[in-house]
Amino acid sequence: MNPRNLTRQAAQPLRQLRLYRYRPAGALSTRREPPRSAAVLSSHHPLAPDHRSHAVLIRRAPEVPSSEITPESLYLDRRSFMAAASFAALDLAAPSLGRARARRVRDDEKPTSYASITHYNNYYEFGTGKEDPSENAGGFKTRPWKVEIAGEVAKPGHYDLDDILKGQTIEERVYRHRCVEGWSMVIPWSGFPLRNLITRVQPTSRARFVEFTTLYDPARMPEQRGGVLPWPYVEGLRMDEALHPLTLLVTGLYGRPLPNQNGAPLRIHVPWKYGFKSGKALVRIRFTADQPANTWNVVAPNEYGFYANVNPTVDHPRWSQSRERRIGEFLRRPTLMFNGYADQVASLYAGMDLRRNF
Ligand code: MTE
Repeated sequence: MNPRNLTRQAAQPLRQLRLYRYRPAGALSTRREPPRSAAVLSSHHPLAPDHRSHAVLIRRAPEVPSSEITPESLYLDRRSFMAAASFAALDLAAPSLGRARARRVRDDEKPTSYASITHYNNYYEFGTGKEDPSENAGGFKTRPWKVEIAGEVAKPGHYDLDDILKGQTIEERVYRHRCVEGWSMVIPWSGFPLRNLITRVQPTSRARFVEFTTLYDPARMPEQRGGVLPWPYVEGLRMDEALHPLTLLVTGLYGRPLPNQNGAPLRIHVPWKYGFKSGKALVRIRFTADQPANTWNVVAPNEYGFYANVNPTVDHPRWSQSRERRIGEFLRRPTLMFNGYADQVASLYAGMDLRRNF
């Protein structure tokens, strides 16, 4: 983890948000499905100190009439211009585009560019530089792929990925993604709630935590031949965190299959926690009675905790967490409590000392 190496990138547009039904053939359908309720995920909370902070959640296609979507080609043509212009200036300069965008893009929910999301990565199995994963993970084979369900669970087994995905409705969710290093992005993931899988495999009453293990295969993950981290990469959540509707098993981004460097074929994303909680290329999900070890906590227990909730008031021992650099922006912005998801997740930690349980 290194807080340096921040890049400046051109901003990118929103793409139309869609719902997909997973198809074992692997291709994502672009067929729009009827709108479903997004009841658990209200976008605006009246008590929020800054209501904009709650905007990045789940949005369904019906919120954005297709007539208002600026064609991607138009955005792409304008990308070099956008790199130089501030958004305020852009809206003045191009009111016809600006009006549509103003309705659906607030300052802090503009998705980070596909190029940045896929070329500025932490994935130490493929190198410790931010561009190493995109350079080194290209040939990584993600099929066939099995996920072991293990531990305190009624239906353990080695499940084929297609079986894991069978029957799941793939949703697109735009989440903030905040790295403990001090940078952040906004990512239009696709995936489905982890809780759907958990319900299916039926944890026993002894299951209080869930452990997530990344593939260990030094022949395919070159950095695993060295000792930069103890391998395999392991992370964990408390059961109520794992069951929270925001916790997502991710299969894609920007409506495309998940790129290898972002954790293909299956990763997790827990949007109110620092990014290191979100393990990539998962091969095992194990239900446990005891709190699992998590890799970064094993490496540096005084720097990286088990909970790792985004918290601007609890600094990393070596740097402040009160602000962050959104990739693609120049100025740093304030970091929000629980990464802006406090209205939905703060109750999970009622009565807990978050300074001690960092
Ligand atoms: N998972 C594995 N297996 N290996 C890693 O090095 N890095 C973590 C997390 N998951 C990591 C991992 C960290 S520190 C972050 S910030 C996120 O992945 C980065 O996800 P991204 O590259 O998709 O932005």
